[in-house]
Amino acid sequence: MDFHIVTVSGDGIGPDVVEQGKRILDKVGEKFGHSFQFEEQLAGGVAIDATGEPLPEQTVEACLKSDSVLLGAVGGPKWDNLPNVRPEQALLGLRSRLGLFANLRPAELFAQLAAASPLKPEIIGHELDLLIVRELTGGIYFGEHGRSADGHAAWDTEAYSTPEIERVLRVGFDAAAKRRGKLTVVDKANILETSRLWREVARAMAAEHPDIQCEYLYVDNCAMQLIRDPKQFDVIVTSNMFGDILSDEASMLAGSIGMLASASLGDRASSKGILGMYEPIHGSAPDIADQDLANPIATILSCAMMLRYSFDLQAEADAVRSAVERVLDKGYRTGDIYSEGTQKVGTKEMGALIAAEI
Ligand code: IPM
Ligand code: MG
Repeated sequence: MDFHIVTVSGDGIGPDVVEQGKRILDKVGEKFGHSFQFEEQLAGGVAIDATGEPLPEQTVEACLKSDSVLLGAVGGPKWDNLPNVRPEQALLGLRSRLGLFANLRPAELFAQLAAASPLKPEIIGHELDLLIVRELTGGIYFGEHGRSADGHAAWDTEAYSTPEIERVLRVGFDAAAKRRGKLTVVDKANILETSRLWREVARAMAAEHPDIQCEYLYVDNCAMQLIRDPKQFDVIVTSNMFGDILSDEASMLAGSIGMLASASLGDRASSKGILGMYEPIHGSAPDIADQDLANPIATILSCAMMLRYSFDLQAEADAVRSAVERVLDKGYRTGDIYSEGTQKVGTKEMGALIAAEI
């Protein structure tokens, strides 16, 4: 099959890691008889430099026409103090314009990297595999924001409707059904009305999913439980802001943020499946940009998620994953996951090693 992928390399190490993602997809294409065509578009700081806007309309239109989007990273100190524009607006814009309401963030600790987790071995064990499903186009990120006339009061509004909650919960229930069958709905229902609505909707859906063990947890408790006993979790589903916070916390359990992939999905069909946006969860790390130092594995695993979720190419996705595992087994590491006795390699070599294992 032929796939048309828009790459939004963005800023900092974005281009370094996207280059390796493309290399991996090319190798998958060669091995499995697919062809991936890439089209680069601007977003973030590079787009501000080139056009004055963080998210040019042309980029949105190209993404809407594509089969899938591979994003590197956006942002950097160069664009931190501009009046009225920020590179991060590109991310929010892409999420909402592409209708990507469900953000899947797996926190996985590979056995080979168990020593990189800051948790004691008796807590983390050898492996960790949990999935955070974060609502991505609603809640306080997209509610009404405002400032009083005198500038001394401000507000941001958390708002959710039943259909918005239902569609992201459905992604959570489906994911749990394919995994270990446990779903944790995280909220602040002791305080927030939106959270009480989340619980109501979740309880009604749980009644229709007797196969899933569904439980409810307040977000503060969840933050604590993630450190106390992360293995109790399978799938966590939560609102936009709680998901933002908990997914950073969970990423740390997995050792290096340089390993973690993500998928943002909606219900818009592309010509080859479901339109999605795939990106490493790390940022643009401008201090190491263009020096062959970044870990490309998060982006490569994001490409595996693209194969799995947008294109339903399960064997291809598995092949990428096992290639990553074999390279780790052989002892190759980028600087962020290096430990004594392993062999340090750069961004490009890591990409080449993984491609060679496919
Ligand atoms: C994330 C990031 C973004 C968010 C920022 C950069 C807008 O933290 O993807 O988690 O808050 O969603
Ligand atoms: Mg975040």
